[in-house]
Amino acid sequence: MRIVVVSNRLPFVIVPAPDGGWVVEPGSGGLVTALRPVLENRHGCWIGWTGATNEEVPRAGEILANPENRFGFELVPVTLTASERDDFYFGFSNEILWPLFHDQPSVCRFEPRFWLAYEAVNRMFAETTAARVGPDDFIWVHDYHLMAMAGKLRAMGVRSRIAFFLHIPFPPLDMFVKLPWRFHLLRALIEYDLIGFQTARDRRNFFQCVRALLRGARILSQGPVATVHLHDRHIRVGVFPISIDFSEFARRASEEQAMAKARNLRADEPDRKIVLGVDRLDYTKGIPEKLNAFRSMLRRFPDLKGRVTLIQVVVPSREEIPGYLEQKTTIERLVSEINGEFTRSGWVPIHYIYRGLDAMRLPAYYLAADVALVTPLKDGMNLVAKEYCACRVDEQGSLVLSEFAGAAAQLQHGAFLVNPFDVEGVAGALGRACQLPSEEQRSRMRRLRKAVRDYDIYRWMDAFLEAAIAKDLSDFPKNHEAIPEVVFS
Ligand code: F6P
Repeated sequence: MRIVVVSNRLPFVIVPAPDGGWVVEPGSGGLVTALRPVLENRHGCWIGWTGATNEEVPRAGEILANPENRFGFELVPVTLTASERDDFYFGFSNEILWPLFHDQPSVCRFEPRFWLAYEAVNRMFAETTAARVGPDDFIWVHDYHLMAMAGKLRAMGVRSRIAFFLHIPFPPLDMFVKLPWRFHLLRALIEYDLIGFQTARDRRNFFQCVRALLRGARILSQGPVATVHLHDRHIRVGVFPISIDFSEFARRASEEQAMAKARNLRADEPDRKIVLGVDRLDYTKGIPEKLNAFRSMLRRFPDLKGRVTLIQVVVPSREEIPGYLEQKTTIERLVSEINGEFTRSGWVPIHYIYRGLDAMRLPAYYLAADVALVTPLKDGMNLVAKEYCACRVDEQGSLVLSEFAGAAAQLQHGAFLVNPFDVEGVAGALGRACQLPSEEQRSRMRRLRKAVRDYDIYRWMDAFLEAAIAKDLSDFPKNHEAIPEVVFS
């Protein structure tokens, strides 16, 4: 069985070379780490967009086909024009699906032309894929940009097995029905053979939509993988919380270089607790709410003034969309207000970094942080929370985590779970986490690390592939226990 992975972005980017040409470099993300061995061993391929338009990089296909740019499996680019990028990627994907699926309908721009572009680009991805697959191949489509692909592939006569994994949350019925194309999109999803969600909550929301909107659909629950029956179709639907390469993060955090850098970061904040936030610039990440909670903590616990520093890393993202730039302005205004209110000689309460941290620096920041403050308003999973735990090879540090991050289901027993909208509640939890005795940090961190180690990215991939391929679901998969739901307390 050959695997064909399809995602909006390829795991590699094409960047200008100093000689005026182009070079191919690995992009960010752990997905490729897990899939790479499978793709290499099975002569698989990865189909996706390069992130640049035809106008910007006119010969992406040739560049990726160049033997110098071989990565052990075939990379097939889908090219978008500037207007396709605007209407499909920025428009339907990121100004409709993204906000709606993160419970923020007021941010949506329900432009009819965005839907047309979504359909057209999904068809284009399907054409590129159909030209490369045989009946025995397995097609694995990723994320909200490509929910309509399976139907197009079927219409083109593709008979292969087609599976889909949604990396972001699936919204509840009341939210989903606001989508003007709700029936089209739900029927399109039902064309897949397997649909994977991050959490039990997302799958429950999906079932609620299926029951309400698809007449005749029946849901049979058989544990971790259930089936939806509709007319002659049987669709498997499972819960597979995505993860990270635990050992690789732990290894990087154990290197002398990372440890030395962590010591330097700590030395810059003598006798202070370091609280760390690492978030992509996005209104779903709750960064302003987090800053307000930090301010409230400093007001409520005056003893902590001068004794806690927040390092907030914001990774630039989707700045072409107006809401993202507004978010940046709001964050920067709050950072300067809070620093203006509390800074004193020798202490600046918030260190604000507006750029990504590379693979060497990130583990050092995790190691230096007494507390990781991860408080998205809603998040499919949130891998920062898992990376922090994997990097704490010293079993120290505390995690303050939003109840609405997918990761909360697996990490609820070691983390301080908070409601990110409850500024006072977050301030209180942060205050407690900052003052947690070392022994309690250790026992919580052991539980957290075990949860991440036991269900790492490889286990995630195996579980998904097994659910896709297993003939009989009754014994699926032998050691795949049900993923718990968050308990609100
Ligand atoms: O979380 C969903 C996601 O699409 C990730 O796959 C990706 O890393 C991130 O958002 C950033 O997305 P974009 O491709 O829009 O930069």
